[in-house]
Amino acid sequence: MTPALFTPFALKDAHLRNRIAVPPMCQYVAVDGFTTDWHAVHYASLARGGSSLVIVEATAVSPEGRITPGCAGLWNDRQIAGMATVAREIKAAGAVAGIQLAHAGRKASANRPWEGDDHIADGDPRGWETISPSAIAYGANLPQVPREMTHEDIMRVQADFVAATRRAVEAGFEWLELHFAHGYLAQSFFSVHANHRTDEYGGDLAGRSRFLLETLRAVRKVWPETFPLTARFGVIEFDGRDEETLEEAITLTHQFKAEGLDMLNVSVGFSTPDAQIPWGPAFLAPIAERVHRETGLPVASSWGIDTPLLANGVVEQKQMDLVMVGRAQLADPHWPYVAALKLGLDRPSWVLPPSYAHWLERYR
Ligand code: FNR
Repeated sequence: MTPALFTPFALKDAHLRNRIAVPPMCQYVAVDGFTTDWHAVHYASLARGGSSLVIVEATAVSPEGRITPGCAGLWNDRQIAGMATVAREIKAAGAVAGIQLAHAGRKASANRPWEGDDHIADGDPRGWETISPSAIAYGANLPQVPREMTHEDIMRVQADFVAATRRAVEAGFEWLELHFAHGYLAQSFFSVHANHRTDEYGGDLAGRSRFLLETLRAVRKVWPETFPLTARFGVIEFDGRDEETLEEAITLTHQFKAEGLDMLNVSVGFSTPDAQIPWGPAFLAPIAERVHRETGLPVASSWGIDTPLLANGVVEQKQMDLVMVGRAQLADPHWPYVAALKLGLDRPSWVLPPSYAHWLERYR
C-alpha cells in the first residue's frame, strides 16, 4: 500500500505527486531584489529531490517590505525574468511552482541572519524606514520603532501585493502563498502585540482582520481562479493568551475561506520576543489539525517534521494535507527519496528524476 506521505493531492488545477512540500525559505542572496544563479540552482535541486510543491522564499512586494537587503522581490517588471527561470526549473522537475509574497513590516531593514539578525543600525545607508500598523517596535534584536502606517500607506501596500501577484502569474507560478505570518506586516495587523490602532484597521477582531481580508480580496481578483491561493498565518503566539488568539484566528480563517482562500499554511505568530514556544518534533501538528477540523479548509504546516515517520504520521492521522519539510531538505535535497526508502514505497528511486532513478534501481 502506498504510504500516506506518497499519495497524490489535488487542489484546484494543482496536481501534487505526494504530500511533501518545500516551505518558503529565504536565501538572503538576492541583489536589489533580483534573484541570481543561486536561486535557479537551489530551487531546481529541491524540486528534483522529489517534493511535490516548492514554494519560493518570502518575496517582497516593495523594497521596504524586504526583511534584509538580500531578500528577493517582485516589485518591478524587470524582476520577472529571474523568477520565471526559477519557476521553469521547478516545473521541469515535476513539482508545482509556488511563491510566497510578503511585506516584512516592522521586522524589515535587518541584517542577514548570519550577520547579526538584528536591525541595521540607524544611519547605515543599507537600512530604511520601517512601517507597521502602530509605532511599536518588536523589541529584542529588532528595536527600530516603525512609522505608523497612514491610510495611503495601507492602500499602497495592498496595491503592491496586487501588482506583485500579477508579476508572479507572468513568471509562471501556479501556487500563491500570502505571508500573513511570523510577525511581518499582515501578522502585525492581526496581533494585539503590534496593532494598537484606534481607526477601522485596529481595535476589535474585525478591525485587526481588515488589512488581511482586504489584501486577500484584492489579490483574489487578479490571481487565476484555477490556481490555489493560500496564506501562511500565525494562529498562535505561545504568549499566554493562546486560546483567545486561536479562536480569533479560526474565526478569521472562516472569513478567508469565504473570500476564496484554498488552503491555510498553519504557523506561529512570532509577534513578540517574549513567547514561550514549545519547540519539539511536530509541535504544531495538533494546532493544524484543529484549524482543519474547525474550518474545513485544507491545511499545511511545518516545524520540526523532519523524519519520514513523523511526516507520514501527520498525513496518515489527517492532521494536515501537506507537510512542509524545511531544514531537513536543506540538509538533504533528496529527502523525499530517503523517505520513500524508509517508508517502503514501491520503486522508491522513481521519486527522483529518471537520470538518477534508473541507476539507483539497477545493479543492486
Ligand atoms: C525559514 N522560514 C520561512 N518561513 C516563511 O514563511 N517564509 C520564509 O521566507 C522563510 N524563510 C526561512 C529561511 C530559512 C533558512 C529557514 C530555515 C526557515 C520558516 C520555514 O518555512 C519553516 O517553517 C521552518 O524552517 C520550520 O520547518 P522545519 O525547518 O522545522 O521543517
